[in-house]
Amino acid sequence: MKKMLFVFGTRPEAIKMIPVVNKLRNNRYCVKVCTTGQHKEMLQQVLDMFSIKPDFELELMKQNQSLSDITSSVLQGVDKILLAEKFDMVFVHGDTSTAFATSLAAFYHKLPVAHIEAGLRTYNLYNPWPEEANRQLISKLTKYHFAPTTEAAKNLHREGVENNVIITGNTVIDALYFVLNEIIYPNEKELKEKLVNTYPKLNNVFQSRYILVTGHRRETFGLDFIEICQALKQIALSNHNIYVVYPVHLNPYVQNVVREILGDVNNICLLPPLPYLEFVFLMKNSYLIITDSGGIQEEAPSLGIPVLVTRKTTERIEALQAGTIRLVGVNKDDICDIVQQYLTDNQLYCAKQTNPYGDGKASDRILEYLNDIFE
Ligand code: UD1
Ligand code: UDP
Repeated sequence: MKKMLFVFGTRPEAIKMIPVVNKLRNNRYCVKVCTTGQHKEMLQQVLDMFSIKPDFELELMKQNQSLSDITSSVLQGVDKILLAEKFDMVFVHGDTSTAFATSLAAFYHKLPVAHIEAGLRTYNLYNPWPEEANRQLISKLTKYHFAPTTEAAKNLHREGVENNVIITGNTVIDALYFVLNEIIYPNEKELKEKLVNTYPKLNNVFQSRYILVTGHRRETFGLDFIEICQALKQIALSNHNIYVVYPVHLNPYVQNVVREILGDVNNICLLPPLPYLEFVFLMKNSYLIITDSGGIQEEAPSLGIPVLVTRKTTERIEALQAGTIRLVGVNKDDICDIVQQYLTDNQLYCAKQTNPYGDGKASDRILEYLNDIFE
């Protein structure tokens, strides 16, 4: 039986890798999971929701950890696991420090690296930072490149990666469809009641239109992040009939700035990071989403909710081309103007339910490919 190690550390990696873990476990592979603990509470929420118990827990998170802290401690932690136990392949996901350091550790052990969500690029090393560098470095160390889209595969080909590039769709859609079809659709009423009981402020929110917000990218920290928050405040103050709902990332920098600028605006509802199930429910019922998250740019098109992206660049080119996301940058006036248009102009709003990121079967394609190489 082939033995695979899956390593992840952050919320989005867990959401996007667990469908593959489950798929391989149900199909004659021995799969072990290592969580680095790059995230703590936000990772635990996902593990709990999908009932995943890690085989190895590195528990590395420190308050305000630096990029060097995470990278060096993941490298050493994963190295110990690879010394202690023999694996046939090591799986990483996307562009986090966990993914980069793990692929380096696996490379030092001459183990094949399988990279899920391979080939995303902006070609601007500082945007997103440090993720663009992480992705490019991981591609150099990877043997099997599971690209979510043809655009991502083309990027890899352009960089000279010819072999073992497999287009799968994005595994986030596997997770999203599972949660929607198995849990949300059959229990909408109960879920809404549960959310209102847990966060009483949502009672008013659910009775009007609301904008759902997330934001956490390191490259915006400083003036850009402050401008984004000021824009949200302005939008709320100018539109008393709508709510802004913001589950705030646990990064202390984000917490401080968001609470300082948005903490006491009546129609802004700040929440803790939400379990995936609750968050998908909130996305599905929102009018508009404002975010800098990569995963949300991929999920929202499946739900037909327009997304305004508070970043200068995006690697989610397919969603941009389909018109389901729009880059609004980080300037306060620009953000306010565009949001105002979306609130008032029905033709512009025009929610499009197209989904360039897959059919929910990305994990099946990864399984099929592995079955072929190990046959
Ligand atoms: C990381 C990833 C980013 C990904 C994001 C998803 C890197 C370099 N960045 O960024 O690509 O989009 O995760 O959210 O890998 N914290 C907690 N509890 C948690 C999680 C975070 O307290 O459960 C706090 C800690 O103080 C931690 C800080 O948040 O030091 C930052 O976490 P970190 O993983 O370093 O960076 P993110 O900004 O979350
Ligand atoms: N998400 C969640 N709870 C929240 C906010 C986001 O479960 O409170 C989910 C969201 O649906 C998406 C993922 O977390 O699947 C995105 O994570 P994040 O924004 O932290 O990282 P990124 O996608 O930017 O790497």
